[in-house]
Amino acid sequence: MFSLTDLPEGFHQNPWPTYRALREDAPVCWQADGSAVLSRYADLDRVYRDTETFISDKKAVFGPKYGQGTPLYEHHTTSLVFNDNPLHGRVRKVMVGALNPRALAQMEPGLVALVDRLLDDMAGELEVDLIEAYAGAIPIEVIGNLLGIPRDLREPLRDWSLAILGALEPQLTPQQEARGNQSVTEFKSFLRDIIEDRRLNPGDPETDVLTRLIQSDVEGGLSEAELYQNCIFILNAGHETTTNLIGNALALLDANRMARASLLETPRLIVTAVDECLRLESPNQFGNRLTTQDVELHGETIPAGTDLHLCIGAANRDPEQFEAPDELRLDRRPNKHLAFAGGAHTCVGLTLARMEGRIAVGRFLERYPDYALAHGAKLGGRVRFRGYARLPAYLS
Ligand code: HEM
Repeated sequence: MFSLTDLPEGFHQNPWPTYRALREDAPVCWQADGSAVLSRYADLDRVYRDTETFISDKKAVFGPKYGQGTPLYEHHTTSLVFNDNPLHGRVRKVMVGALNPRALAQMEPGLVALVDRLLDDMAGELEVDLIEAYAGAIPIEVIGNLLGIPRDLREPLRDWSLAILGALEPQLTPQQEARGNQSVTEFKSFLRDIIEDRRLNPGDPETDVLTRLIQSDVEGGLSEAELYQNCIFILNAGHETTTNLIGNALALLDANRMARASLLETPRLIVTAVDECLRLESPNQFGNRLTTQDVELHGETIPAGTDLHLCIGAANRDPEQFEAPDELRLDRRPNKHLAFAGGAHTCVGLTLARMEGRIAVGRFLERYPDYALAHGAKLGGRVRFRGYARLPAYLS
């Protein structure tokens, strides 16, 4: 049966038949290490809602994976996403407050200007890589602005982010692990000067996430390690995921010309279209939870202490939840997909991500309505994160 560490041939290109088989034949799919993959929508929904039985704390899993005390262990076990209360709630409150509607509204004009500048820069090019020239360039600016990272220092952020999140893959080479550890160390020392400077020159805590995190630190909210590791997390969380949202949407609209035509004809569809792309090609394909007690599911007993791999990509195409689940329907409503997970850990950046998707995809189509993908598209080749490393295209 399906193994996360021995993937079927062609899995990255087309995981959907495998996901379907999982949903239908093995809704609890055991792995050699005692963990299990869940793939049905209703099961993921239940898991996300029940934070007593299914916890996010990963110390028991990351200890053996990275080794206690390593930079990757320290980072991933201190970020809010891999913690439960009280740390989770404390950090989340600060972040949710910083991404308030006023802060997001203030960001929108800058985002439009950035997108238009990137679109201008592409004009006249015969072929462009949509990831490098566009989808990858947007989130780094947005998140960089959110934390007030000086523009000329942003260059290494993308590689660090890819290495640190890449280390969450089920199977790692020693090189990937070493790169992940080194990236956490470099990222921390990079943040040191920025944090010290912001302590001396605080920004507006209404809109400046870093100032907000620092001030909660002063009030005894976050320890020094929690402050650093959660800054790294927010920089990473909003980065590759949003790049993949934009890249995957442009690839989907290349493959579905009728859908593209209807979007060009009815631009307001972009709002539901972004969610439909998120559902069909979710940037995060897998999440995890740990059971705190025995759980009965589909005639199986899942023992306490089991690491569960939640297959978002499969749940988002579950026919029990979505009509014609493999079809791109830009006006799909309701569309309660799990691309942003659910429950207490629902993505903090979902409104920002949707805004980035709406502006980036909408304005791209307006400017280059006849774009077509060229040869040489390359997927990132990862299990947890779905997106392109390269997406060459002709613009007209
Ligand atoms: C399309 C883009 C994005 C996708 C698909 C996405 C997806 C997700 C998912 C699935 C989770 C839940 C993980 C879990 O508990 O298992 C999550 C959590 C999170 N995301 Fe996003 N995300 C995106 C963009 C962003 C952005 C732009 C930001 C910040 C600016 C962000 C910040 C966070 C944070 C802070 C959490 C942790 C929430 C918690 O543990 O309470 N994300 N995201």
